[in-house]
Amino acid sequence: MNIFRTRQALQTYLDGPRKATLRIALIPTMGALHEGHLSLLKEAQQIADIVVCSIFVNPTQFNDPGDLEKYPRPEENDLRLLQEIGCDVAFLPSVEEMYGPAEEPWHLDLGNLEQVWEGEKRPGHFQGVTQIVYKLFRLVEPDIACFGQKDFQQVMVIQRLIELKKLPVRLHIVPTVRNEEGLALSSRNMRLSEVGKRKALVLYRALSHIKRHFKDHDLNILRQEALDILHQEKEIDIEYLAICETRSLQEIDRIDPAKNHVALLVAWVEGVRLIDNMLLD
Ligand code: PAJ
Repeated sequence: MNIFRTRQALQTYLDGPRKATLRIALIPTMGALHEGHLSLLKEAQQIADIVVCSIFVNPTQFNDPGDLEKYPRPEENDLRLLQEIGCDVAFLPSVEEMYGPAEEPWHLDLGNLEQVWEGEKRPGHFQGVTQIVYKLFRLVEPDIACFGQKDFQQVMVIQRLIELKKLPVRLHIVPTVRNEEGLALSSRNMRLSEVGKRKALVLYRALSHIKRHFKDHDLNILRQEALDILHQEKEIDIEYLAICETRSLQEIDRIDPAKNHVALLVAWVEGVRLIDNMLLD
């Protein structure tokens, strides 16, 4: 596996595959890799010739400096996992490598996507995400970019970035990887105790209930039933639970057969913010 820490070194290396018209896939990550990230890599290997995985804890997308500081950075283990899985290129730039001293101000019109759910709860977060992903897209010029359905709103935001900047990249969405019992894998799960992990399974139960009855229950009642399931666990704080249309992420109270739908959920367990979702159609 090739490991690069500068844009220049990565560019020089990628000239070869580009000239040979090989298909390049990019998987942007912030490291602390787990099976969820690895499934992105495995899918990329099926559809591309060269797989580039970036590991960069992007400061501009953190609205809480404490969160940025606490973010795990197990670099040695990450590189071992990437090596084992047969990743072609790991790109691990420093903050200075990605952000210059005279950085152009960045703003992308994300419309409603920035007003709702994660956009509303984490002001500036998606501006930071699109800023870094755009930099990575410009640098790697991938044919394919893989993102996890786990961060559903992020996928919609990246789709919007690709449309607005007219980028020739295909967005490949990879289903959420869960543990055997249904808990969506996340680097934040490391901060949960065994009891907390068991409690957190209620998120999957609530979302599965919505999916099971999506077609045959009134949506307001269905949402309430899912909240009742969540409240069966003590000491869980629900930040939001919404049944939405997938593109706008507007909450709906009636199904539109011409559209797709998703249930979005954020809840806190043992001080850890857990995010999950389920496609309903
Ligand atoms: P990070 O949280 O490291 O996630 C990297 C990618 O892995 C994202 O596309 C995310 O959706 C995906 N992922 C995480 N957990 C997953 C799971 N259980 N199943 C499937 N995919 C999963 O998301 C980011 O980093 C950053 O915002 C980034 C896009 C890298 C920009 O900085």
